[in-house]
Amino acid sequence: MKIGLLTGGGDCPGLNAVIRAIGRKGIDYYNDEFIGLRNGWAGLMQLNYIELKREDFSGILHLGGTILGSSRTNPEKDEGGYDLAIKNFKELDIDALISIGGNDTLGVAVRLDELGIPVVGVPKTIDNDICATDMTFGFDTAVTVATEAIDRLHTTAESHHRCIVVEVMGRHSGWIATHAGIAGGADYVVIPEYPFDIDDIIDKIQQRMKRGKFFSIVVIAEGVELEGAGWEFKTRESDDFGNVRLGGVGNLLASEIEKRIGIESRAVVLGHVQRGGTPTAFDRVLGTKYGIAAIDMVHQGKFGMMTALQGTKVIPVPIIEGVKESKTVDKVTYEIAKVFFG
Ligand code: F6P
Repeated sequence: MKIGLLTGGGDCPGLNAVIRAIGRKGIDYYNDEFIGLRNGWAGLMQLNYIELKREDFSGILHLGGTILGSSRTNPEKDEGGYDLAIKNFKELDIDALISIGGNDTLGVAVRLDELGIPVVGVPKTIDNDICATDMTFGFDTAVTVATEAIDRLHTTAESHHRCIVVEVMGRHSGWIATHAGIAGGADYVVIPEYPFDIDDIIDKIQQRMKRGKFFSIVVIAEGVELEGAGWEFKTRESDDFGNVRLGGVGNLLASEIEKRIGIESRAVVLGHVQRGGTPTAFDRVLGTKYGIAAIDMVHQGKFGMMTALQGTKVIPVPIIEGVKESKTVDKVTYEIAKVFFG
């Protein structure tokens, strides 16, 4: 078969592991040919692609980012965008597409499947907010990076008797914040799924002070809405999918804490450092499993489906099940983090 590959949305450690697994099994077992569409859906819209040979799938397992490039281009944004996508799919003379992406990229895949394009999805995001799969690859790396940062911030916070607010990624879901908070021993974790309560945060920091702990680490997910508290956000630009550029809640929270109880406070925004660089072993293995499953699904004709980790198995599930809503942090997990607040 001749297959098109693309990676869309925010990049994510483990993308190259998926690409490598698809290519190696596809060429060695199925005699497939591949083209790589550059920069997500933009590659299909602009017919920007490269032929991928066996050597292109070699030496990339440990690399972060994506050898195909990525973007947040959305065919829906332009009138006739989907017509152009279908026309170009035919012009490329490919038999199937494998789309590796998060909610937005896979949302486009759902629409293309409805329009008759044979597409298989692979769920990707450091945010871990895709439904129907226990985990997305990239999440483990992001949590590992954030945990290491929290460990490092602990010692400097303690030496200077400060409160450090660590802002991590997580647009709709606080998975990175909760897991890194548990792993790094955070004194408070603020996530979009649960009501923001500044009085409770202050109370927990003061409880620590009464116990002689004159420092605190508060982890906050970037997607937390502080507007309710009467705090102003700057206006932000948004991408083709309407996602506003986040970042800044940590600073607001740090200054509010300092204002209320006088503890010197700092904010650290981890940002894209969580997304860059080499994937953990876990993400390389998960990415490899997803890639193998995806190429098998193409040959089994399981279109409109995506790979999903359920328990220890990778199985096909309808892409729509994965993207119909954002997967939020469950109460049980958040309650575990809460035991250590204060
Ligand atoms: O989609 C994952 C994500 O990491 C979000 O948590 C974050 O808001 C977004 O990407 C930022 O990405 P970019 O700066 O590339 O738009």
